Amino acid sequence: MANFDPRELRNVLGAFVTGVTVITTVDGDGIPRGVTVNSFSSVSLDPPLVLWSQALKASSYPVFRDAKRFVVNILAEDQIEVSRRFSSNIENRFEGMNYHLGLGGVPVLDGCSAFLECRSFASYPGGDHAVFLGEVENFERTPRKPLAFGGGRYMVAYAHESGPTTPEAGAEGLAQLKAVRMGCAALPELRDKTGLNLIASVWGNRGPTVVHWEPSTDALTESIRVGRVMSTLDSATGSVFTAFLPRAVTQAIIDEERSAALAAGLPAPKQEELDAGIDENRRRGVVIRAPIEPTEPGKPHRVTVSVPVLDHAGQPALVLSATGPIPATGCGLDAPLVNTMVTAAAALSRQLGYKPAG
Ligand SMILES: Cc1cc2nc3c(=O)[nH]c(=O)nc-3n(C[C@H](O)[C@H](O)[C@H](O)COP(=O)(O)O)c2cc1C
Repeated sequence: MANFDPRELRNVLGAFVTGVTVITTVDGDGIPRGVTVNSFSSVSLDPPLVLWSQALKASSYPVFRDAKRFVVNILAEDQIEVSRRFSSNIENRFEGMNYHLGLGGVPVLDGCSAFLECRSFASYPGGDHAVFLGEVENFERTPRKPLAFGGGRYMVAYAHESGPTTPEAGAEGLAQLKAVRMGCAALPELRDKTGLNLIASVWGNRGPTVVHWEPSTDALTESIRVGRVMSTLDSATGSVFTAFLPRAVTQAIIDEERSAALAAGLPAPKQEELDAGIDENRRRGVVIRAPIEPTEPGKPHRVTVSVPVLDHAGQPALVLSATGPIPATGCGLDAPLVNTMVTAAAALSRQLGYKPAG
């Protein structure tokens, strides 16, 4: 036996992102059977062959071993529940499901991204699994986007941007669109890692504007809304934008906010204070507001950690903010939460073509 940790092997194999299928058949009594499978792969075009593998210990293994036919149902992105159902111990997995009977009376599930109806072609031993080959006899594709699976979790599949982002005319808008797509796709994982709400904001006509967010199950979320404009002077997100955007872009909004604060008799930072803060935030590459006093006694303190996603020109195409309750001990620059956010933003910036100086 090779000397490695089987859990680590599983993690490595999980780096290969796949689709998710439900393989269906009918047993000797004419009862529909199905299992969730991501070991599906294409093999040959002439003849048209596909394969999948099944654990020998699966209760349905004898059924698939003896089956004359099977259908590969390629699940669509909104069918996570179907995937769960066909890998669960629910007694009748087909109950309440919409399907029709295809070639040989094998069930074809409704709402899938595509399906392939196969005749059993060959099977091979594969350690604790059996490998089944099927010859494709009929197939259909729909416009539904497929569900993806990798790293032990369900994923959504986006088409990758083609070509590098260049500083040509029109590229600015495209770079930002790419940043928004990538940033939004990264939010669920960051939310899981930090346990906080994750917010993506762009610099809009009125200042820092929320374009997407992922709610945390155990964090305070009342005030977060898509489209909400945040304070430029008095929010961590705003401070990141003012630190990284040219002054010519932010000054009008800063002036407007300062005048409104003064008119309302509220304190507003002087320009020198603002400039000092901007330099400091730019150098650190992160803004932390913590701990923010609880609004009601007994409620936890809140923290917000905001980081820029920089484009090829070093401009913040997007700001990511993690916000929610933390223990009253606070959150320093060396906190794991800060490291997680800074690392994620740096990785996204690199993907946008940003090259740090030096
Ligand atoms: C995303 C996903 C992919 C899976 N892929 C496979 C696979 O390729 N082969 C396999 O034997 N089991 C796979 N499983 C586990 C089976 O779905 C599960 O063990 C099976 O439904 C057991 O059913 P049975 O005991 O009724 O046969 C997968 C489960 C999930 C959630």
